[in-house]
Amino acid sequence: MSDKLYPVSADWASRAYVDDAKYKAMYEASVKAPEAFWGEHGKRIDWMKPYTRVKNTSYDPHNVSIRWFEDGTTNVSYNCVDRHLAKRGDQVAIIWEGDDPKDDAKITYRQLHAEVMKWANVLKSQGVKKGDRVTIYLPMIPEAAYAMLACTRIGAVHSIVFGGFSPDSLAGRIEDAATSVVVTADEGLRGGRKVPLKVNVDAAVDKIPGVVKSVVVVKRTGSPVAMKEGRDHYYADLAATVPDECPPEEMNAEDPLFILYTSGSTGKPKGVLHSTGGYLVYASMTHQYVFDYKDGDIYWCTADVGWVTGHSYIVYGPLANGATTLMFEGIPTYPSISRFWEVVDKHKVNTFYTAPTAIRSLMGAGEEPVKKTSRASLRLLGSVGEPINPEAWEWYHRVVGEGRCPIVDTWWQTETGGILITPLPGATALKPGSATRPFFGVQPEIVDAEGKVLEGACEGNLVISDSWPGQMRTVFGDHDRFVQTYFSTYAGKYFTGDGCRRDADGYYWITGRVDDVINVSGHRMGTAEVESALVAHPKVSEAAVVGYPHDIKGQGIYAYVTLMTGEDPTEELRKELVAWVRKEIGPIASPDLIQFSPGLPKTRSGKIMRRILRKIAEDEFGALGDTSTLADPAVVDDLISNRQNRK
Ligand code: PRX
Repeated sequence: MSDKLYPVSADWASRAYVDDAKYKAMYEASVKAPEAFWGEHGKRIDWMKPYTRVKNTSYDPHNVSIRWFEDGTTNVSYNCVDRHLAKRGDQVAIIWEGDDPKDDAKITYRQLHAEVMKWANVLKSQGVKKGDRVTIYLPMIPEAAYAMLACTRIGAVHSIVFGGFSPDSLAGRIEDAATSVVVTADEGLRGGRKVPLKVNVDAAVDKIPGVVKSVVVVKRTGSPVAMKEGRDHYYADLAATVPDECPPEEMNAEDPLFILYTSGSTGKPKGVLHSTGGYLVYASMTHQYVFDYKDGDIYWCTADVGWVTGHSYIVYGPLANGATTLMFEGIPTYPSISRFWEVVDKHKVNTFYTAPTAIRSLMGAGEEPVKKTSRASLRLLGSVGEPINPEAWEWYHRVVGEGRCPIVDTWWQTETGGILITPLPGATALKPGSATRPFFGVQPEIVDAEGKVLEGACEGNLVISDSWPGQMRTVFGDHDRFVQTYFSTYAGKYFTGDGCRRDADGYYWITGRVDDVINVSGHRMGTAEVESALVAHPKVSEAAVVGYPHDIKGQGIYAYVTLMTGEDPTEELRKELVAWVRKEIGPIASPDLIQFSPGLPKTRSGKIMRRILRKIAEDEFGALGDTSTLADPAVVDDLISNRQNRK
C-alpha cells in the first residue's frame, strides 16, 4: 500500500463533468433516492416506449429478482448507431488498428450503420430470431462489433468466446447457450502469429453433434480453411444475397442482451446474463463520467471483446455515447515494445485504458521504449482487471503519463456490467493502488466472516448492499446457481468474492479474491477448472491448483499433481501436462509451476487444506499455522522440500 496522495489538478477540476463537491452531491442523491436518480439518468438512452417504473429489485435470497426500467422498450443498436446519424454520421465511430502497423481502418457512424444492418440480415438469413443465442468467436476486428450490434438489432443474445479459448472450452459454451449459429474468422492474427479460429470451431462443433447448424466465416487472413457444405458460409457470400436495410427490433428493458461465460470457484464457467436497458444506461454513464468523455476525444481501451471490459468499454459504453473508440488487434510488444505508445501517437489518443499486467511487463523493458514516443495527446489513463501495485501505478503515472494524467483504477467484474468503484478524474484525489470511491448508486460494504457490517477503517469481504442498473440478472439457465453464488454467503447482499480494506478517508483497496478464483494477467480462472483439466489426463490421479504471486501476471498458476501409481514424475511429463491444460482450456490456463506430490494435505475427512498449499506455493511455509488436523502431517514436509517457487 502507498500513503501518497495525488490531488486533483485545477485544470481537471474545472474541465471535468464532476468535481469533488458535485461528486458528493450526486452520490448522496443516488443512494438516498435511487428511483429519482436513475429515473433521470435512464433518459440518457433513447426509449421507444418510456419506462414508468425505475427500480424493482430484491436481494432476498428466497426471491432474488433484479429489474430496472422494466416497462420501457428500446433497442441497443439503435442507441449505439442510428441515433447518432443526424449529428455525427461522418464522425469516426471505430478506429481499427491492425496487428501489423500498416493495417488500419476508420469506420464512421454511417458506415457502422450500414454494416450492422447487413450483418443483422445475414444472421436472419441463417435463421436467427429474437431471443436466439449466437456464439461469436472472432479476433479483434471491426466485424466483432458489427456482429454484436447486429445481434442486438434483431433481439438475439450474443455469447462471445475469447479467441484464446480451446475447442473444448468453446464447445462447452456453445452447448450451454444452445447456439445454432457461430460467427468466426478463418484465422486471427496476434503478434504476427496466426490463430486457427476456424479449425478450432470445427473441432468444437464436432464435439457437440446436432447443436450448430450454421457457421459464418469472416475472411481475416484469407488463408484457405475447410468449409463444410451446407453448414459453413463465408460472410461476404451471404451478405451479397441479403437486403441492406434492417429496422431495429423493439426490446423490453429486461430482455436479455448477452451472455458472457466467466469462471467461478466451483464447477463449469457460468453464463453471466446481462439485460438490455439497465446495462446500456450503466455502461454509457460510467464511460462518460469515469473517462470524462467529451466530443472529439479519442478513446482507447486495450481489452479484447471476449472479456466484459471489451463489451462495456470498447463497444457498448463508448458507442452509446457517440464516441470514437479504438479497437486494437495486436499485442503490446509487436512489432516493438513501444507499440502501445506508437498507436497513441498515430491516432492522437487522449484516454488510454489497460490492465496492470501490461504495465508491469512493459515496465520490465525500462523507460526508453516509452520515452522515445511523444504521448502528448494523452490526458487520462485507466487500469482494470486486477489490483495495481503502487510501483506499477507510479511508473504508469510518471513515465507513461509524464505526471500530468490522472489514473482511474476501476474496480468491477463481469457480473457488475460496468465500473463500481473508481476515481473520477476531476473529483477524486488519487492514492496509488486504491480504486478509491464508489460510483453513483453503488453502495459497498465491508463485512467480516460472520457477515457483520464493519464501520470506518476496516478490512474484510466486499459486498454491495443494493442493486445498480448494470448488474447481471441471472446465470443463464441456472437461477439457483445465481442466488447460491452471490446472495447466500451474506444473505440480502451481493457478495463480490473480493477482499477489501477501507481506509480512514473512506477509500477502498481491493486485496484480491477470497474464493478459489485466481486472476492471471487480469484473466479470471477458476482453480477447479484447471484441476479438472489436469485430472482428465490419464497419468494424473489427483490435482490441486492455487495462485501464487507473480511479478508480471499478478498471480501465477501453481499445480500440485499426484500421479497414478507407477507413473514417473519426469520433466517430460511436466511439459506434457502444461500442453494438456493449454489444449483442454486454452493458453491462459497454462500452469506456471507443477509440483509432483505423492500426497496432498488432507483433513481426516478428506478435505484438501488449500491454505497450506497456498502458503507453500507462496514460499511462506514458515507460517503454515495449525497442521494438527491433517490425516498425515508428514505430507507437508515432502511438499516443502520439493516446492517449486523458491524466492
Ligand atoms: O478480483 C477482482 C479483479 O477482477 C475480478 C473480476 O474479474 P472479471 O470478471 O474477469 O472482470 C475483470 C474486468 C472488469 C474482481 O473480482 N479486479 C478487477 N478490477 C480490479 C480488480 N481488482 C483490483 N482492482 C481493480 N481495479
